[in-house]
Amino acid sequence: PQTILMDVDTGIDDALALVYLLSRPEVHLQAITCTAGNVGARQVALNNLALLQLCGRPGVEVAIGAEAPLEIPLVTTKETHGPQGIGYAVLPAPARRISPRHAVDVWVEEVRAHPGEITGLVTGPLTNFALALRREPELPRLLKGLVIMGGSFNYQGNTTPTAEWNVSVDPHAAREVFAAYRGLPADKLPLLCALETTERIELLPLHLRRLGEAAGAGPELVLPEQPDGLRSTSASPLVACLSDAIRFYMEFHRLHGQGYVAHMHDAFAACAAVGRTPFTARLATVDVETGSPLLIGTTVADFRGLWGLPPNARIVASNNPEQCFEELISSVGALARRSMSAGPPAPG
Ligand code: BDR
Ligand code: CA
Repeated sequence: PQTILMDVDTGIDDALALVYLLSRPEVHLQAITCTAGNVGARQVALNNLALLQLCGRPGVEVAIGAEAPLEIPLVTTKETHGPQGIGYAVLPAPARRISPRHAVDVWVEEVRAHPGEITGLVTGPLTNFALALRREPELPRLLKGLVIMGGSFNYQGNTTPTAEWNVSVDPHAAREVFAAYRGLPADKLPLLCALETTERIELLPLHLRRLGEAAGAGPELVLPEQPDGLRSTSASPLVACLSDAIRFYMEFHRLHGQGYVAHMHDAFAACAAVGRTPFTARLATVDVETGSPLLIGTTVADFRGLWGLPPNARIVASNNPEQCFEELISSVGALARRSMSAGPPAPG
């Protein structure tokens, strides 16, 4: 099995990333930790618990971490992900409680207990991971690997003109994390899934139709002219939930002139963490601007050694959106099919 410890700010694309990991039989999800980002940390936890319930896996631990970034006030983005972070989806009431452990304790304790076995996946701001590093500076060596969704290296941001959301929410945390990785061997360096490649993972209505078909629930009708807020009628509760969430995200992208599409940043990072989508990566030395009001949250990559510093990241340089969607649709479709034949999960 491949053991993954995930830190999220669920979030519509975080939700697809989580459901995808739950769909993969070879993945053992050690725990899910929650950080404030798209919505507050408690709402993130409630979303994760409900998604676990929907996928028939209520036993996975969900722990809350930082409620705010390290040094600057929290900004959330309800206009992007909906008031609860999950678009138009109405999630089931979770049967399980939030873990009594703090997210930082989960990271430190689990990674120490399973040295060299856990792949970390962070698809929200890096606050919890930075705090865990302060407690256990050996984290980079103790982890098997780390995959991060964050940054933008073609200097087109999605939050400011140059900054990507996850880094922009907590630039100080991101800076600390990259500093901690200087001088580590290349196979331990974090894989950065940044905007220039994650924005290529453009989910279209036809992908949702294919998901409905893969689930054996019939094609899902998702059209640009569908009235805002109209609920999915899919026979699969999981497909209906994802469709209702993603339709909100599509409307957001359309509002911003990007077309009726949804960028599945975090789902790509999850596929990359499992090693089931092709990509290439380049070594680089990465730093984050934290001082300038104009450029705060901007990630800068030195590919040529101009700073005279060792590389501290591997940045995804190319990916294959169609193969990524193939993987997401077939895996999540199969999970939706299994959950329909299993019926509703037993509580607890
Ligand atoms: C990132 O920002 C969030 O809104 C998404 O969930 C993703 O993790 C993309 O910039
Ligand atoms: Ca996210």
